Amino acid sequence: MAAAAILAASARAASRRAYAPYSGFHVGAALMFADGAIVTGSNVENASYGLSLCAEAIAITKAMDEGRRGGLIAVALAGGKPDAVGEAVPGPDPVMPCGRCRQMLHELARLGDTDPEVIGAAAASMLRVPLSTLLPHAFGPANLD
Ligand code: THU
Repeated sequence: MAAAAILAASARAASRRAYAPYSGFHVGAALMFADGAIVTGSNVENASYGLSLCAEAIAITKAMDEGRRGGLIAVALAGGKPDAVGEAVPGPDPVMPCGRCRQMLHELARLGDTDPEVIGAAAASMLRVPLSTLLPHAFGPANLD
């Protein structure tokens, strides 16, 4: 299996662990690092809806808490209504990171000077684009120098 397909499968497996009783929309994210490590996350919602956290935010904070500061080479996402085991069933259009998550991904990418490929899984296809295309002219750590 190609690396993108493996990462998309990891994202889909992570979506099983989503806590999304309010939206009923399960999302899994999988980050791939230059050393081969994969760090996953799933969305975590809250009864106070606005406090909900995206799958990417969980994956990024897990990775950073493990001490990672860069080396991010790819990110895969899978989102959809859950099947019987809670795994997102992707729809016809890929789920791509929300604006806040694009900014969070940019921070981790910038630390290691990479432009990770973002992979959105749809039912029958994958959308693959560089993060810099999703967030051009990004604000980042260098702006604070
Ligand atoms: N969600 C993500 O986990 N990642 C995104 O990039 C977009 C949205 C989650 C948040 C919420 O729990 C659910 O999807 C519906 O918006």
